[in-house]
Amino acid sequence: MYRTHTCGQLRITDVDQNVSLSGWVQKNRDLGGMTFVDLRDRYGITQIAFNMDVDADLCKKARELGREFVVQVSGVVKERESKNKKIPTGEIEIIANDIKVLSSSTTPPFTIEENTDGGDELRMKYRYLDLRRANVRENLVLRHKMGIEVRNYLDKLDFIETETPVLIKSTPEGARDFIVPSRMNPGEFYALPQSPQVFKQLLMVSGFDRYYQIVKCFRDEDLRADRQPEFTQIDCEMSFVEQEDILNTFEGLTKHLFKVLKNVDIDYAFPRMTYKDAMENYGSDKPDIRFGMEFVDLSDIAKNKDFPVFNSAEYIGAVCAPGAAKFTRKQLDKLTDFVKRPQIGAKGLVYVKYNEDGSFKSSVDKFYEKEDLQAWADKANAKPGDLLLILVGDKKSTLLQLCELRLEMGSQLGLRNNEDFKPLWVVDFPLLEWDEDNSRYHAMHHPFTSPKAEDFDKLESNPGEVRANAYDLVINGVEIGGGSIRIHDTELQAEMFKHLGFTEEEAQNQFGFLMDAFQYGAPPHGGIAFGFDRLVSLFAGLETIRDVIAFPKNNSGRDVMIDSPSRVVDEQMDELKLDYKKSE
Ligand code: AMO
Repeated sequence: MYRTHTCGQLRITDVDQNVSLSGWVQKNRDLGGMTFVDLRDRYGITQIAFNMDVDADLCKKARELGREFVVQVSGVVKERESKNKKIPTGEIEIIANDIKVLSSSTTPPFTIEENTDGGDELRMKYRYLDLRRANVRENLVLRHKMGIEVRNYLDKLDFIETETPVLIKSTPEGARDFIVPSRMNPGEFYALPQSPQVFKQLLMVSGFDRYYQIVKCFRDEDLRADRQPEFTQIDCEMSFVEQEDILNTFEGLTKHLFKVLKNVDIDYAFPRMTYKDAMENYGSDKPDIRFGMEFVDLSDIAKNKDFPVFNSAEYIGAVCAPGAAKFTRKQLDKLTDFVKRPQIGAKGLVYVKYNEDGSFKSSVDKFYEKEDLQAWADKANAKPGDLLLILVGDKKSTLLQLCELRLEMGSQLGLRNNEDFKPLWVVDFPLLEWDEDNSRYHAMHHPFTSPKAEDFDKLESNPGEVRANAYDLVINGVEIGGGSIRIHDTELQAEMFKHLGFTEEEAQNQFGFLMDAFQYGAPPHGGIAFGFDRLVSLFAGLETIRDVIAFPKNNSGRDVMIDSPSRVVDEQMDELKLDYKKSE
């Protein structure tokens, strides 16, 4: 028997018990007469004490234990003289009477502690060591618990978890596919699913009524903190439902998760915001509503003087930063640099300080009187002590730039607290999105999303104005989930394909199986998918989803631990009838 207890289990009530523990040597302190070893496993840390006067040989053996050695220790539980209040086992220690090295360790490349000295790449290369750190492991425990809660909740609502294939044909989620060559069908490829979209719809045609799956999805797109090439969705679909049914069901799931995992009560209905309002007031379809600072349109009232930059602008937009009139010149210069960064692309930043004493100081004092600035401040509902920050340009880009500025100010003013959760539904997404490069419309969500009945008549005349029965769940500025009510009518689906520029043949080629299926009685249906990694990382208060994935990829899509992707041997290539293109 390797152990009677874990390293996180023993308490003062266990004093005088004979015990055995097994684990990793976290630390080894030689104090001359005494040697102390901190023994660690998944459950905690227990101090083991070796006394030179009692057993010199054993004590010497203990001194030789290196960091991360795996050992088995036997001994007696005793009350500690100097107690450690920081750990649950801190009142006791084990007075060792035997020790066995189960496995030695070379010196690890970084220390296995909360604030390790390992940089990102190093920790990723030795991810199995990184995962020994309690804070990283806690994230995965949270992930595990969330998975169980999701399954239990959906099971009670009669959802059936059904697996769908991983080697499939391209799915229409808008990113690039990862493809897999088929040996048995030379020259042909599978695609890895960007989501199980078409399969879950087929399951509705099959009469499954309520489907869910915690499922891996694969998208070959540029990576960011909240994007991985393989990620996990809580993917769901329901039959005989309208948008309202889906929103209610998944609002319920979200509230349940907050309650049981975070002890956060959200006792109100999630607010709903149209896509149009989100874009106008926050410049984003995933607004962070933990704080206000909605955009104020000054285009009408700020073009009345001799300031060419404003007069020629399509849009003049402001945000009012509460209490920020005290910002120094240096802070304002930094903000200007921030909005001028190439990723944001503003040409400059205009500020108006509404000082505590009611006076104004602005970067456009040359062109505007106090009354003008007062009018802007009034329109923005600014109070003395506030700071107006103004960007101008064409409306589309200026809204996006203001969005970045607003978020930056929110962070600088401490208005984006990780433990404050503000969910909302963004609804009424446009059905179609104009693609400048290819001069054609794309489905904003995917081609099976249904248009709003009241906008049907615009499909022909003004397709860009047609709204969809599509919705996103947004929490703290993160798109947590998205879904839609689907088209279940073959004729409407055919019309959609036409608007998306598919010929009948192309549509048949790509989605023939789904259109065929719909001819055999398709129930009205709709669904949603949550980004599981994003939800866990939000709950854990983390900035990146990498920290909630056991073995994530880096920003270049590489797994630096197993060194993937990598070349395969020539025989494998030959078998697949593939050749490396000699482009390097
Ligand atoms: P969508 O494409 O909006 O919808 O994806 C659903 C949710 O998945 C998460 N997500 C990601 N998470 C991490 N890394 C990525 N690369 C990534 N891409 C997406 C987001 C997103 O909200 N089939 C539809 C759902 C439906 O219509 O039912 C779909 O996949 O949190």
